Amino acid sequence: IASPYKNLESDFTLNAKKGSLLVAQKRAHRQNVEKNKETSSITGTRIGEVLGIKEHFENKKKKANDSNIDQTFNDISEDIQATRRSLPIYKTRNDLLRMIRENQVIIVIGETGSGKTTQLAQYLFEDGYCQNNKIVGCTQPRRVAAMSVATRVAHEIGVEVGKEVGYSIRFEDVTSECTKLKFLTDGILLRESLVDSELDRYSCIIMDEAHERSLNTDILLGIFKALLVRRRDLKLIITSATLSASKFSQFFRGAPHFKIPGRTFPVQTIYSKHTVGDYVHAAVTEAVRIHVSTDIKSGDILIFMTGQEDIEATADCIKEKLLEVFSKKRKYTEDIDENDFEIFPIYSALPSDIQNRIFQDLHGIKRKIVISTNIAETSLTIDGIRYVIDSGYSKIKVYNPKIGLDSLVMAPISIASSNQRSGRAGRTAPGTAYRLYTEETMREDMYTQTIPEIQRTNLSNTLLLLKSLNITDVFNFSFLDPPPIQTLLASMYELWFIGAIDNSGNLSSLGKTMSKFPLPPSLSKILLISSKNGCSQEMLIIVSMLSVPNIFNRPKEQQQESDTARSRFFVPESDHLTLLNVFSQWKSNRYSHLWCTKHFLNYRSLKRANDIRIQLSKVMKKLDIPLTSSGSDWDVIRKCICSGFSHQAAKLSGLGKYIHLKTGMDVHLHPTSALFGLGDLPPYVVYHELLMTNKEYISCVTAVDPFWLVDFGPFLYDLKRIGSSSNAGHKLYGYDTEEEDSGEVDELDLRIKSVVAK
Ligand code: CDP
Ligand code: MG
Repeated sequence: IASPYKNLESDFTLNAKKGSLLVAQKRAHRQNVEKNKETSSITGTRIGEVLGIKEHFENKKKKANDSNIDQTFNDISEDIQATRRSLPIYKTRNDLLRMIRENQVIIVIGETGSGKTTQLAQYLFEDGYCQNNKIVGCTQPRRVAAMSVATRVAHEIGVEVGKEVGYSIRFEDVTSECTKLKFLTDGILLRESLVDSELDRYSCIIMDEAHERSLNTDILLGIFKALLVRRRDLKLIITSATLSASKFSQFFRGAPHFKIPGRTFPVQTIYSKHTVGDYVHAAVTEAVRIHVSTDIKSGDILIFMTGQEDIEATADCIKEKLLEVFSKKRKYTEDIDENDFEIFPIYSALPSDIQNRIFQDLHGIKRKIVISTNIAETSLTIDGIRYVIDSGYSKIKVYNPKIGLDSLVMAPISIASSNQRSGRAGRTAPGTAYRLYTEETMREDMYTQTIPEIQRTNLSNTLLLLKSLNITDVFNFSFLDPPPIQTLLASMYELWFIGAIDNSGNLSSLGKTMSKFPLPPSLSKILLISSKNGCSQEMLIIVSMLSVPNIFNRPKEQQQESDTARSRFFVPESDHLTLLNVFSQWKSNRYSHLWCTKHFLNYRSLKRANDIRIQLSKVMKKLDIPLTSSGSDWDVIRKCICSGFSHQAAKLSGLGKYIHLKTGMDVHLHPTSALFGLGDLPPYVVYHELLMTNKEYISCVTAVDPFWLVDFGPFLYDLKRIGSSSNAGHKLYGYDTEEEDSGEVDELDLRIKSVVAK
């Protein structure tokens, strides 16, 4: 099949590399800060947005009383009503509802802030779409947005979140029997379709932010194409902030558009004159300049960064710089207000209550400086922004199907994103956008549109889900944009390799059970294998700990203390076991908050990991999978980890350096690893994640025995004798053979089977 995206992957990698260079410079600049810094952003994206909360559907308690809810819905304060009426969408309310009544699918286009997300669902409720015990669902590509929007809508209606208005994100279901408006991630809706393929509870589904083209949104659109034929009563509303919506319309056989007339102000765009080496530094300088040279009432500042790491660095630097400026000024005048600004970081790993703080009104006494990932590009609208500073980069997942490698890279944003970011400055009045890249860079390095996630990510998780939905011929699934054929093949290969599908591509019984877990296939596999090998309780903890970000805190002022505290938890042969160790000690200390603070551990993350553990153990119980413990024997746990990650193995090749077994690529231990700096490094490891910044790093690493690799990857690996042990290079790790006792050991080497490698 000729793919129009043939060169996409190599172009993409090229751009990603340019991004990496930049990051390298940034890192050099902040050498000391970075040395051991946790890249919690990795953990933040550890697992895609997929979730299943089956209980919700099976929980058939007493029905909510519709008329009572109507009463509650009517009981809205005048103030909020007035705000609602002032939104652009309000003027079009009746026409919009009429078009929805007359069509099964419509596409709603409107500028960010026009009221699509917060109002549409409420209009549908008011128009009777929640009668007969039906509900309205509104999907969001990001968990943060689902939580924050549900909170906002509940507030507008005057109810508590989780009652009439609720949200559901992976591992967190804040809905109840009386929920009528449900905000959920697209991943959750996909999971729900596993339990109820007709999505019978819904009368109407809003696919919000569809222009973002998240992987799950794309898959859902394909599923809807078939579902809408079976369920003529189901309405689908696709919303998009950009005009590139005709694609959706064509996909749904000419579904009509509805345009909400916008209300935007002109934004002046200022490009950098020279290539910026360090975008954190450049953003800090620009923000400080704006803050000290303009009246704080002239508007707030929004800075686009790539992830938690650079967001925090930017926040710290701005604070530092501004305080420096203030203390210099103080020599000349007393009239200084050091508290005339407040910094708001936003990234997905941040708890929702802290994120919601960005919406507070500072009454013109302070200026908001919001530093965000691309979540503020379209899904969150913060009123009052007049200055935008755009780094020009975002962190994205990239998959290289040729070598079957998934990685997280910094890459230039698209021109469409760049315009969207600038547009944020002109919502309430004319504004200015400072682009930290040259006009030439934009023309040469940026794609016109962002490449949809489906074309640049590993699809093994998605394919497993589609297979469980009885969509067996995944190659002919109705994709809005088909993924490259190599990606489909490589992802199928991965599923086959870990035993989720059989030789004819059908789900194996292992694969069927795996799909019941809201986890990536490798993680559900190690969980299932661990149950058979008597250590599922321990593995549950490890898998849950891998599903949350930021276990270790590393405050800027106490880096050494926190590093020492962290190293006390290290299990030298494994980061996975280190996580298990942290959890076990926390448990022995009665899940204490104080204990966490003392040991620089993130209490929230640990608590969340524990919640996830409980939820996953319920899934196991339901499937009759035994919960077993290996006690103090932790070697068997490493073996089980190897069973799910034998395709992500590396072999020691020098000081702190490994070679990726499957690809031959050089990879380095991440500085946060428990193995980092060990004198005697294990010859073979498997890893959880590959991160590309200035180097290729493997993070969350566990030492494995090469015999296990051969056991779990017989199609991939071969063991060869390569001579006598006298000139030993490295020995097989932790493997006692009889020959060893007899003193006649041959040195063995693990090789990749050449046939498979090709
Ligand atoms: O979805 P769309 O971008 O069209 O707009 P929206 O998210 O519904 O936002 C409508 C208005 O509600 C904007 O003025 C937002 O600033 C406001 N809003 C808010 O104050 N708090 C939230 N949590 C969400 C939205
Ligand atoms: Mg929106």
